[in-house]
Amino acid sequence: MLSIRYPEGATPIDQNEAQGLLPSNITTQGELDRWEQENIIEAITWLDKAKPKDILNEQFIKKLHKRMFCNVWEWAGTFRRSDKNIGGSWYQIPMRLRNLLNDLELWIDLKDESDDEIAVRFHHRLVEIHPFPNGNGRHARLMTDLLLENILNCTRFSWGSENLSKTSNIRQKYIDALKEADELNYKPLQKFVRT
Ligand SMILES: Nc1ncnc2c1ncn2[C@@H]1O[C@H](COP(=O)(O)OP(=O)(O)OP(=O)(O)O)[C@@H](O)[C@H]1O
Ligand SMILES: [Mg+2]
Repeated sequence: MLSIRYPEGATPIDQNEAQGLLPSNITTQGELDRWEQENIIEAITWLDKAKPKDILNEQFIKKLHKRMFCNVWEWAGTFRRSDKNIGGSWYQIPMRLRNLLNDLELWIDLKDESDDEIAVRFHHRLVEIHPFPNGNGRHARLMTDLLLENILNCTRFSWGSENLSKTSNIRQKYIDALKEADELNYKPLQKFVRT
């Protein structure tokens, strides 16, 4: 039986989702973290080689999640089918994602905002939609870095220069900045991602 301690702002996984855990030998949070981290490193190695450019579509968003978590979760790369404390109804995910991707194309074309402002808005909207049962924060941070590097030709964000998955003051700053962005104040998140 897997027992998970959740840091502030993390999304708990439900019974059904927990059954999708692939490695049978994982029993602690530490083991789960390590398996996920190794899987993500494999995904990053793949990204470094493939340098995908066609990333702003639902298919790639799912593919990236699958690459990051396919050794750990059966449901890697598939949208959630239950509601969470964040993200709205699960059945609206495809529509909300389509709206986000259309808006993003418009922001890039209009050039009204800086690349950082665009990437921050994108990151916040993507985690707010919360497409997957788990892994949304890590997936949306990587997606945002790909947007910066592969599409906007910028350097990736530093994200507080710390592992944001662990409970810490820096993680709390990140979550607080996202809550400000929920209220349409993007400034704290803009500052945070370049710290
Ligand atoms: N108020 C909020 N508004 C928008 N996004 C939020 C808010 N609170 C939390 N989040 C996002 O949800 C993420 C947690 O979701 P989830 O547990 O699916 O991701 P994760 O990758 O497993 O976690 P982590 O980011 O902690 O590694 C946070 O990392 C953050 O990006
Ligand atoms: Mg999580």
